Amino acid sequence: MSVGRLVIISNRAPSVDGSADSGGLVVALKDALSKNGGLWIGGAADQVEEPAQTLRFHERPDFDVALFETDPQIYSDYYLGYSNSVLWPAFHGRVDLIDVQSRYASAYREVNKRLARMVAPALRPDDQIWVHDYQLIPLASELKSLGVKNRIGFFLHIPLPDLHTFMAIPDWQDVAAWFGQYDLVGFQTRRDLANMINIFRHALRGELRANGHIGINGREVAIGCFPISIDVEGFRQLAMNGAQSTDPAPLPRLIGVDRLDYSKGLPQRLSGYETFLANHPEYRSKVTLLQIAPPTRDKVQAYRSIRAELEHLSGRINGRFGTVEWTPVQYIHRALPRDELAVLFHYSRVGLVTPLFDGMNLVAKEYVAAQDFADPGVLVLSQFAGAAEEMPEALIVNPHDPHDIAEAIRTALDMPAAERIERHQALYAHLKVHDVAHWSAAFLKRLKKVDDLGLDRVAR
Ligand code: ADP
Ligand code: G6P
Repeated sequence: MSVGRLVIISNRAPSVDGSADSGGLVVALKDALSKNGGLWIGGAADQVEEPAQTLRFHERPDFDVALFETDPQIYSDYYLGYSNSVLWPAFHGRVDLIDVQSRYASAYREVNKRLARMVAPALRPDDQIWVHDYQLIPLASELKSLGVKNRIGFFLHIPLPDLHTFMAIPDWQDVAAWFGQYDLVGFQTRRDLANMINIFRHALRGELRANGHIGINGREVAIGCFPISIDVEGFRQLAMNGAQSTDPAPLPRLIGVDRLDYSKGLPQRLSGYETFLANHPEYRSKVTLLQIAPPTRDKVQAYRSIRAELEHLSGRINGRFGTVEWTPVQYIHRALPRDELAVLFHYSRVGLVTPLFDGMNLVAKEYVAAQDFADPGVLVLSQFAGAAEEMPEALIVNPHDPHDIAEAIRTALDMPAAERIERHQALYAHLKVHDVAHWSAAFLKRLKKVDDLGLDRVAR
């Protein structure tokens, strides 16, 4: 079968004029999209009372963008509700934060059904469809029920929890069945892949085949592990160019850059830093922690709480250890341009990436890409970030243990140059090969292979 257009579908759309393409995913997929005249379908930035019933097309020089509109109340129940108050907490192991409302589940189904109705007429028979992330899990099921025969791949950017955590989602069998309607489901880590196999087994009597596919009710689903990455060279260039016109930080700096999300372990990170300052007084007035954490999804209560907690903690540390000349924690509550971030990473002695649970964590990779080869900083990385599977040369920590974080900070600050260089070389060598282009090519190659095998077309 020939390869037609690549059609990407995600909740967030790229800019319609290409003006804000710095985000990782757009950069990652740009080449693959422009090769065969691709199409990216995503949600419109603003919701409207009387949404259009068809996609709104915009031609860019490299690929087309088509936006879907949704009624604001339904969008809120789909996005803030089911996606971010049920699936996000459940998939990140925070079943205590799940907020079950029946209107959330119905809005989630409704948005996916409506999107499928708009997407189906825009498809050509040889299009390859690639759906992204937890907001759109039912899309293949909805497209197939409309008679769409194209191969459909799915990539889950966030972690997939173990079976028992997954079972806390009220309609967990339905969610499992939606995954089972794709032809290829890709995950960040082997951990997620193993969880999917277990969930398929229990929810759908799925059977693992010798070829690595799962047999479900007479059809096969291919599954695979495709760790996402960044544009390593591009990010490195940003850092090196910016560093030429910027001065290094006055004191050795620790840096954290995260959306203000409870999965990122920010209070635990601050506790770790507080423990470090308490246990190692010789470092007081000698280092700073710069935490950049822009707000996200702040209409959801759990996100408002984390903001208040962080402000309280950074105030406490500054009050406890700060002096007239020295502020131990600098906390910036907004997003910064990527070129500024790259330089901040470049001039930071330690990168603190300590999520409690994370699909991958691209900040870990950006920090490594931005370092000076001759005098690199040290990455402190949570064992629960997907990135830990690929980055064993980082200092791996348990983010729940403030003493572990504190000791890793001290080890990083005291590490001799030779060891820093050795660790960084190994991390960078892996990253350089496994960049974001490698990620998208590997997924699309596998999707094409599934296609060429012509798996079980009749049963679909
Ligand atoms: P997530 O996708 O859960 O937010 P990742 O670490 O995988 O976490 O990706 C976050 C992306 O957002 C990275 O590219 C990072 O540089 C960017 N980012 C995070 N915080 C900021 C910020 N304050 N300003 C600009 N970009 C940010
Ligand atoms: C994570 C998710 C993405 C999401 C992003 C920003 O990376 O995997 O799907 O787009 O966070 O979150 P937001 O809710 O602002 O889209």
